[in-house]
Amino acid sequence: MARSAILNVMVQAAMKAGRSLSRDFGEVQNLQVSLKGPGDYVSQADRKAEDIIYTELAKARPGYGFLMEERGAVAGDDDQHRWIVDPLDGTTNFLHGIPIFSISIALERQGQLVAAVIYNPAMDELYTAERGGGAFMNDRRLRVAARTKLSDAVVGCGIPHLGRGHHGNFLVELRNVMNEVAGVRRMGSAALDLAYVAAGRMDGYWETGLSAWDIAAGLLLVREAGGFASEPDGGQDMLDSGNVVAGNETIHRALVKTLSRPVSSR
Ligand code: IPD
Ligand code: CA
Ligand code: CA
Ligand code: CA
Repeated sequence: MARSAILNVMVQAAMKAGRSLSRDFGEVQNLQVSLKGPGDYVSQADRKAEDIIYTELAKARPGYGFLMEERGAVAGDDDQHRWIVDPLDGTTNFLHGIPIFSISIALERQGQLVAAVIYNPAMDELYTAERGGGAFMNDRRLRVAARTKLSDAVVGCGIPHLGRGHHGNFLVELRNVMNEVAGVRRMGSAALDLAYVAAGRMDGYWETGLSAWDIAAGLLLVREAGGFASEPDGGQDMLDSGNVVAGNETIHRALVKTLSRPVSSR
């Protein structure tokens, strides 16, 4: 698989940040941690990884704009390109010593997602995608799962953390989904949830109240692996709303239907 120059830049940045996260994961008890809000943590590890990615990407493509979780928006001279970056997706897992976390880097060109990298350093799994070029994990081509029955499907979700709100809606959605599927998972990294859908490990996934940096790279991966993603109401403004449902074509359609039910009939 030949990677474009720009994807190589993204991979190098993600791997370098991954080495920093792996070092910090080894001594997580020594990290400075602060609260952004109830149940919403940020640590030195998040900021160090973000600094590395920012430096690498800015050096390789001076002028591109940024949207990063910890820095926020950084305008560039080039208004055609924007990096969308989550330096550590799954901070809560990370701080608890749970090795399910990732780095997520997406590139937008003229408002379109064109390249994506998600890296889980603990498992050394590198997910990459380029618009029109397919999706890969460690150079193996990815394809969404082929299952078409919800009753066979394993579906990922996100559970709102303390202070997030949406709890009421979530419980209704969860009940409706639970009544239809084989199993539900909560991994704790939205980027990896979408990567797992792309890899066919999970048949579907839904979550609301996310941010663009959680899902930008994952959305391109899912699409390039032959999957579908939308908002629960079928809209395509996932990066703005932060609400997403994903799966193969059939499971995606079935989940959209299930999630739109006001309350389970069972
Ligand atoms: C979080 C993870 C988690 C999702 C949260 C996100 P963070 O990102 O993606 O899976 O449920 O809503 O905020 O804060 O660990 O980068
Ligand atoms: Ca966070
Ligand atoms: Ca995140
Ligand atoms: Ca984060």
